[in-house]
Amino acid sequence: MANEGKCAVVTGGAGFIGSHLVDELIQRGYDVRVIDNLAAGKKEQVNPKAEFHQVDIRDKEALSPIMKGADYVFHLAALPRVQFSIDNPEEADAVNIGGTLNVLLAAKDAGVKRFVYSASGSAYGEQQEVPFREEMHARPISPYGLHKYVGEHYARVFSVVYGLPAVSLRYFNVYGSRLDPTGPYALVIAKFLQQRKDGQVLTVTGDGEQTRDFTHVRDVVRANILAAESGNVGAGEVINVGAGRNMTVNRIAELVGGEVEYVPARLEPRHARADRSRAKELLGWEPEVLIEKGVLELLREWGLDCICDDKKCVCAFADD
Ligand SMILES: NC(=O)c1ccc[n+]([C@@H]2O[C@H](COP(=O)([O-])OP(=O)(O)OC[C@H]3O[C@@H](n4cnc5c(N)ncnc54)[C@H](O)[C@@H]3O)[C@@H](O)[C@H]2O)c1
Repeated sequence: MANEGKCAVVTGGAGFIGSHLVDELIQRGYDVRVIDNLAAGKKEQVNPKAEFHQVDIRDKEALSPIMKGADYVFHLAALPRVQFSIDNPEEADAVNIGGTLNVLLAAKDAGVKRFVYSASGSAYGEQQEVPFREEMHARPISPYGLHKYVGEHYARVFSVVYGLPAVSLRYFNVYGSRLDPTGPYALVIAKFLQQRKDGQVLTVTGDGEQTRDFTHVRDVVRANILAAESGNVGAGEVINVGAGRNMTVNRIAELVGGEVEYVPARLEPRHARADRSRAKELLGWEPEVLIEKGVLELLREWGLDCICDDKKCVCAFADD
């Protein structure tokens, strides 16, 4: 197999994006080691062919033996919710920044060939214009956005100072299967699916006209693997990984279907959309999954694509 003998470490590999990345790496023939403390991840989501280490990235000593002999490190472990970081700024900082430093140190000591950091579009915060270009001045408006921004700079500094080949990918609103619909920090698409499944109204924050650049998890996984294998990056570059098309939350509610109720707005940027020219230029990456198709897939997965009575079912997208 193409990548036989190559080893990848995935931190956060029991989580939403990480578990998809682990599956794809295994599919491509990599030996995969997962580091996750299961704070949010689920053991049953971890591909059984991966070697699983239930370790906290705040525990520096535990990381080094796991990194030994690894070719690539994909660093996804984080406490990745904006509201959580507002409610718990110290804990979020210790994991998102302190933990990232530990993972970088262990990757450097192991001499890995590439460190791929999961950064975030939340580093942009509120900007005067869209699309967001990487050279724009970052203005995070949450502790989480700041943590992810600091992580990028740490990765770049490790590349410059210690010669660790690093690259940061700024994801924009990732969605797809395994998105966690539970808890106060659930992301909007998962929350809508759960509400519809439970026969509740969909709760939209503010006027619902805020826009987001929803990006499918398969596209994000592909960007990670390109970033690890590409000869064009490794000097701490920052690259947007976003679909490049923004959509209102109202439109997402329409795609999921069902009645809507408006609830008070949160502190969040009004608009977000990625400029994806750099991803194309450096990685040859372009998104492949349209949001309409991605949401349809989820509706099917959740058994919500048809409305049935006693006699028949009408499937909204039957001819798709
Ligand atoms: N989902 C998105 O829309 C999005 C957008 C931008 C960036 N990101 C970044 O992508 C990465 C993955 O996000 P996700 O959406 O899959 O979230 P997730 O919560 O599903 O995954 C994060 C994983 O990290 C693990 N983790 C948390 N604290 C840990 C610790 N101290 N030690 C070890 N493991 C720990 C969790 O158990 C979880 O499995 C994060 O770094 C996040 O900041 C996600």
